[in-house]
Amino acid sequence: MRVLITGTAGFIGFHLAELLLQEGHDVAGYDGLTDYYDVTLKQRRHALLRQHARFTATEAMLEDSAALDAAVDGFAPDVIVHLAAQAGVRYSIENPRAYVDANIIGTFNVMEAARRARVQHLLMASTSSVYGANTEMPYAETHKADTQMSFYAATKKANEAMGHAWAHIHALPVTMFRFFTVYGPWGRPDMALFKFTRGILEGTPIDVYNHGQMWRDFTYVDDLVRGIRLLIDAVPGGPDTAVEGDSLSPVAPFRVVNIGNSDKVRLEDFIDAIEAATGHRAIRNYMDMQPGDVPATWADAALLKQLTDYAPQTDIRDGVARFVEWYRDYYGR
Ligand SMILES: NC(=O)c1ccc[n+]([C@@H]2O[C@H](COP(=O)([O-])OP(=O)(O)OC[C@H]3O[C@@H](n4cnc5c(N)ncnc54)[C@H](O)[C@@H]3O)[C@@H](O)[C@H]2O)c1
Repeated sequence: MRVLITGTAGFIGFHLAELLLQEGHDVAGYDGLTDYYDVTLKQRRHALLRQHARFTATEAMLEDSAALDAAVDGFAPDVIVHLAAQAGVRYSIENPRAYVDANIIGTFNVMEAARRARVQHLLMASTSSVYGANTEMPYAETHKADTQMSFYAATKKANEAMGHAWAHIHALPVTMFRFFTVYGPWGRPDMALFKFTRGILEGTPIDVYNHGQMWRDFTYVDDLVRGIRLLIDAVPGGPDTAVEGDSLSPVAPFRVVNIGNSDKVRLEDFIDAIEAATGHRAIRNYMDMQPGDVPATWADAALLKQLTDYAPQTDIRDGVARFVEWYRDYYGR
């Protein structure tokens, strides 16, 4: 299979590319290596992927439609997995335009390239943040999700609507993933696990929002990319192909799928797991809730299981320990 992945210098794209390369597929990466966080980390991920003979990469922005079209046309992918995005809930308050550029214009350019290349399946990243103010838990794909709490989530919800229209107009099979707080080695420095581990190892205070009254459905990155891999083969078909609890559209080959551990973990327990893995105590600086954030996320992962017969299951303590081991090795601490 020939798979073009956007966001291969990023956390999830890097792991997905590794998995597909290990399975013997051809992978073309596409990433603009933006400076939202440490570019060296992104360069190092791409350098590791380049060690595989079946990997090629284009380092360019999604907004550069000429570069994107050239990459897609030159590679002729069977499948496109679109993961590149401006991520992060908090940064979307400071710099909302970055989200319009990368997530709206950039995603449009990817959809247009996918249509022209007549790919068999286009899969794109959305987020659990689209559930916003929903209180019915665990979150299911069939729940109404119209109350986004951050501009980041709003752009991802827009991507879902754009993907649906494209699937309908062009009969292009589209799957949207809703990821739930992904963590693991080679993770993102702007996310809690990275910041907490650094603070705990350096003996500096860590900011604990909403006074610790937060719950997240943490998903280990190897489990997540295994779910993506299996969904590549679960191409959405017509409405008569719906499975139990499906989000499949009645008019288009389009569905939304949660990928989560289906287990909500208290933030304090998460910090306890980092303390156990590092052997150091955290200095906890309790803070109010951050604007745009939600107190809890929790995935109903039944649809993923129905479609792929797979359920993520890495225990938070094991996953955190593997991250801490990577962090210490990478930073020599
Ligand atoms: N990590 C999570 O917990 C999580 C949760 C929900 C959804 N997601 C989504 O999953 C996807 C991957 O996330 P990640 O955690 O790997 O993030 P990441 O920031 O590590 O990776 C995204 C990559 O996209 C690239 N990029 C950003 N804007 C670009 C642009 N305009 N043009 C070209 N490249 C650009 C960046 O350089 C980066 O390497 C994103 O769409 C994100 O919104 C992630």
